Amino acid sequence: MPSYFITGAARNIGYGFLRQISADPNNTVIVLVRDKPATDTRISAEMSDRKNISVIQGDLTDIQSLKTAVEETSKITGGSLDVLIASAAYTGDYARFDGLGDLDIERLGADMHQHFESNVMGNINLFNLFVPLIRNGNLKKVVAISTGLSDLDLIRKLRIANAAPYSITKAALNMVVAKFHAQYADEGILFMAICPGSVATGNFDNLTPEQETKAGVMFQKFIKYAPHFTGPAPIEDAVKDVLQVVDKATIETNGGILVSHFGNKQFL
Ligand SMILES: NC(=O)c1ccc[n+]([C@@H]2O[C@H](COP(=O)([O-])OP(=O)(O)OC[C@H]3O[C@@H](n4cnc5c(N)ncnc54)[C@H](OP(=O)(O)O)[C@@H]3O)[C@@H](O)[C@H]2O)c1
Repeated sequence: MPSYFITGAARNIGYGFLRQISADPNNTVIVLVRDKPATDTRISAEMSDRKNISVIQGDLTDIQSLKTAVEETSKITGGSLDVLIASAAYTGDYARFDGLGDLDIERLGADMHQHFESNVMGNINLFNLFVPLIRNGNLKKVVAISTGLSDLDLIRKLRIANAAPYSITKAALNMVVAKFHAQYADEGILFMAICPGSVATGNFDNLTPEQETKAGVMFQKFIKYAPHFTGPAPIEDAVKDVLQVVDKATIETNGGILVSHFGNKQFL
């Protein structure tokens, strides 16, 4: 009975993990969401037959809620956890299409802070609090969902200046993963980061004409990097790809590093 704990599972990719992993009745799936009633309603409407799902209310920025999530998870699993998938992220809009040099420095500071609180500090707290359960698990895997936009080589090569607070805090998250790997690899705990690719989550809907132009420039860079790229992949495909990478991952090959949904450094 492998057990999974997934953050950010109320919608999009996190919900995709919930849907795919809970399809196997042998899996125990526990998810952390900010809006439990809305998530319960959605699960009842779409997956009412699944008895292997538990929904816990919590926020990465609220340490007490994470402590409570650990206690509740422990009660469900009997004190262990096999796989933690940290999918939740703050992906604010403010700097999404502009470079650092084009932003208001006060608003940039506030936006950076908000990204850092969830994507970096929130995940550090999450990992620290869940290590005791992971230690007792059989699979012992902690997976941070990161992004190719945090990969130094990719940013240099494609010259992607926009989305800096998001990219910078995801790059910091990659280092968080490396630090946890350095500390816990000897105990047999795998910490790794995976980019799910470019995924169709609706985040390019309803853009202003100016944003659309800027998004178009970024997509042209994506196509130059990966000529086969035809646009964001369906959530179900991205989740399947990521789970295959998680399944095969070992401390020796993946510990402490960021890989793509292909399991390598090809991000699209
Ligand atoms: N979409 C892509 O193309 C893409 C590409 C590369 C990487 N990724 C990564 O994949 C992951 C999922 O992406 P997505 O597109 O599904 O993101 P999304 O649609 O923005 O959903 C993010 C989820 O995280 C939750 N969340 C945000 N801040 C939180 C906090 N402080 N505490 C707890 N939960 C919080 C949100 O909760 P609410 O529902 O309550 O708002 C939401 O459910 C992210 O880590 C993202 O960086 C996505």
